[in-house]
Amino acid sequence: MTDSLYREAILDHFRNPRNRGTLEPADFTYEDVNPLCGDEIRVDVRTDGENVTDVRFSGRGCAISQAAASILMEMVDGRPLDEVKAISREDLLEELGVPISPARMKCAMLGLKVLKAGIYGVPPSDDSL
Ligand code: FES
Repeated sequence: MTDSLYREAILDHFRNPRNRGTLEPADFTYEDVNPLCGDEIRVDVRTDGENVTDVRFSGRGCAISQAAASILMEMVDGRPLDEVKAISREDLLEELGVPISPARMKCAMLGLKVLKAGIYGVPPSDDSL
C-alpha cells in the first residue's frame, strides 16, 4: 500500500471503527489513559481459553489512538492468545503503515497497552510493548 492508502485506511478506521463497543460479560476487561492527554481506552476480551473469540474497544481519543485500536481489534479477533501476547509495537506500527512521531507514539500504542494489561493483569511498561 502507498502512504496515502495507509492514511485513508487510518481515517476509515477512525470514522468507522471495527469492534467498537463493550462485552458484558467479558473474560477480561481493562481500561487505562494516555497520561499525556487523559484520553481513555477500554478493551473487553472473550476467550475460549486458547483463542480470542470476541474483542471490543471503547473510550475516546484522537484519530490515531482510535484508528490504532480499531486496527488492533482486527489483528487480534479470532487469534490464539499466545500470538496476541507476542504482538509488538513494531507489529502494530507496521499495520498502521504511516510514520508515527514520538509525540504521538503513546496515542498509537494506547490500545495495545490496554489489551496487554488485560491479558497480564498489569500494565506493561512502554519498553516492553
Ligand atoms: Fe489523546 Fe492521542 S491525543 S490519545
